[in-house]
Order: sequence, then structure tokens, then C-alpha cells
Amino acid sequence: MLPDSGTERLVIRLLERRDLEQVRHLHNHDETLLRLTDVWPVSETQQEAWFESVSSSRTARRYVGRRRADDALVGVFRLDRLDPWNRNAYVGADVVPAMRRQGYAEEMFAYFLGHLFDHCGLHRLALVTLTSNTAALALYRKLGFVEEGRERQAIFRDGGFQDLVLMGLLAEEWRGRAG
Ligand SMILES: CC(C)(COP(=O)(O)OP(=O)(O)OC[C@H]1O[C@@H](n2cnc3c(N)ncnc32)[C@H](O)[C@@H]1OP(=O)(O)O)[C@@H](O)C(=O)NCCC(=O)NCCS
Repeated sequence: MLPDSGTERLVIRLLERRDLEQVRHLHNHDETLLRLTDVWPVSETQQEAWFESVSSSRTARRYVGRRRADDALVGVFRLDRLDPWNRNAYVGADVVPAMRRQGYAEEMFAYFLGHLFDHCGLHRLALVTLTSNTAALALYRKLGFVEEGRERQAIFRDGGFQDLVLMGLLAEEWRGRAG
């Protein structure tokens, strides 16, 4: 159950079938796809199959953020590799290109970090991102994630290899910053 169904500006809820086409377009946009580890565009059929599998997964969830004012899709929040036994998970987010630099990713993350640490009892959240993804690295550092390691030259992009950066944030670190 999500607290208050979102933030001041965003309704946040689980991904539904009616979101799929817009979410697929966000994913397939060059400004998103080229920042991710897997650069294959997703077809309608693949999106449908993926939706079926993620909807029944016990270790992954997908959420959408929609603007309260007009219901426009703002972004997607990912929860992966949820491990309730060890109380950790991987997270990530994509924001619609036209809506970037308006604080929406930070707003979604603040919401989910509070929810996952304080309501769900998770102890550690992690993520991976490309070394070239300066926007994501700046966002994650601002939120308090720290670099924990690198998979050296794991990504081939724009004709060259680059590292994949692993970052982590602990509940007490988040609480120390949040309050
Ligand atoms: C990374 C991404 C999610 C950021 O979303 P956003 O809504 O634009 O981010 P916000 O407006 O909330 O920015 C919050 C902070 O992140 C950092 N940031 C975001 N975009 C940045 C950019 N282009 N350059 C430098 N810093 C940036 C800044 O520190 C910013 O704080 P500030 O506004 O006080 O400077 C968005 O650029 C995106 O969807 N990128 C493509 C997909 C992607 O890379 N997803 C993450 C994969 S790991």
C-alpha cells in the first residue's frame, strides 16, 4: 500500500495496462534508452509480455508518477531484486524528457525512499548506472547514494567501453539526511 497515493505534485501508483503505451514510448526514447544498460527498443508485444511477468513478480514492481494537475505521465519508478529476507532492493527511475530538470525524479525518489525504508523496513537500496550518465549520478549523489564499486568496461556505448557504477544507500544514512 502506497502512503497518500503520491506527493504534492504527483499521483503515484502501480503501473497499469492503460499506462503501457506511454511508458513504452518513454523507454524507447533515445534520451532514455541510451542511458540504460540494455539498448534494445521494446515492441508492443514485448511490452505486453513484460507487463504480464512484472505484474506477477514477487521481486519486482513498476510504478508510474502522473501529474495531479492534468494526469500527464511524468515518470516510472523501478523496484527490482526485492529481497525481504536481507531487506534490500534495487531502484531506478526514468522521467519523460520534456519534464526533466523540474525536480520530479527527486520528488519520486524522496517518496519511495521514505516508503521503502520507513514503511517496508528495507535496510539498503542499491542501483547501477553508466559512468556517462552525469544526470543520474548527480541525482543519486544528491539523494545520498555513495559509490560502492564499478564493473569495469561493462558497457559498450558510442563506440567505446565504459564502467557501470554501483551505488548504495542505507536506511540510517537516509534518515540522517531526511531528518
Ligand atoms: C536521471 C533522470 C531520472 C533525472 O530526472 P529529473 O526529473 O530531470 O531530475 P530532477 O529534476 O529531480 O533533478 C534532481 C537533481 O538531479 C541532478 N540532475 C538532474 N538532471 C541533471 C542534469 N541533466 N545534469 C546535472 N545534474 C542533473 C541535479 O543534482 C538535480 O538537482 P538540482 O536541480 O538542485 O540541480 C532523468 O534525466 C532521466 O530520466 N534520464 C534518462 C533515464 C535515466 O538515465 N534513468 C536513470 C537510469 S540509472
